[in-house]
Amino acid sequence: MSDRRKFVKLSLLSSIAMLAGKRLFAADIPAVAELAVPAVKDSPVVISTWDFGKEANTGAWEILRKGGRALDAVEIGVKIPEADPHNQSVGYGGRPDRDGRVTLDACIMDEHSRCGSVAALEHIVHAISVARLVMEKTPHVMIVGDGALQFALANGFKKENLLTEKSEKEWKEWLKESKYAPQKNIENILPGGAKNHDTIGMVAMDKNGDLSGACTTSGMAYKMHGRVGDSPIIGAGLYVDNEIGAATSTGVGEEVIRIVGSHLVVELMRQGLSPEDACKKAVERIVSRNPQAAKDVQVGFLALNKKGVYGAYALQKGFSYSVKNGNTEETFESKYFYS
Ligand code: GLY
Repeated sequence: MSDRRKFVKLSLLSSIAMLAGKRLFAADIPAVAELAVPAVKDSPVVISTWDFGKEANTGAWEILRKGGRALDAVEIGVKIPEADPHNQSVGYGGRPDRDGRVTLDACIMDEHSRCGSVAALEHIVHAISVARLVMEKTPHVMIVGDGALQFALANGFKKENLLTEKSEKEWKEWLKESKYAPQKNIENILPGGAKNHDTIGMVAMDKNGDLSGACTTSGMAYKMHGRVGDSPIIGAGLYVDNEIGAATSTGVGEEVIRIVGSHLVVELMRQGLSPEDACKKAVERIVSRNPQAAKDVQVGFLALNKKGVYGAYALQKGFSYSVKNGNTEETFESKYFYS
């Protein structure tokens, strides 16, 4: 809310109080945080994980600024990193599993709690669009592996090789030691010198105040063939409740699945926690379940509530998230548990 709008709102409250013959007490004045909340109806916003979310947000914003639906915005938005061969954690160019196969996980959820998901999908760049078709064209929520590929091909998707020269070269380098060690976050360097990024999770609110989310990844680099992380699991990698808010996650999916992380964040917001506090509590849940395991991995949560307030929290330093609305286009460093 602009300073002018804050001022107008406060003046209006004072006038109402005076007309009612009542002094305006501090308790009558909305807290500063509440005043900073954008008006739902006219304030679309999109947020996504990591710094590369900035580019994805730009794509989503093209839909939101024209008054389009949040569902369309999140699909269009995450298709940008999916198609980017330089992004080695999502879609085309993603790092393969330990057998050299690029397998994608993705899910999408809308304001009516409709959702669709694909896991261990090979040869299709836009896993998110296949997930959306699962939601829209089938009575199911999730289709995996060869079934997901058959479904995609039957619906006109093109079969492609997703393994780029760069990712193949790095995988071959990794094969020399074949050391299977999940990476903490983007600060970590993989064998061969490559940086390890992670999932893009995106949630958005459109001009009607409706929420949707999308999440897509090539998963953990050099994972076991068939391994599925949190990203395509509704409730783990993504959850949307149009009455409350939406949340998504990034990092080591096994830790997120164990606490059904994104659903937990939304439920904590339902209990009145701010998005950041809800993300923090979810991170603390991971720590309290298994402090030993939590120390060595990265997990980040990102959430948006129905008022348009957003927040994030991570286990470790290094998680960033990107925000775009009518006033802001920024990438923020998340707060984190282990300092
Ligand atoms: N968060 C991505 C994964 O664990 O696959």
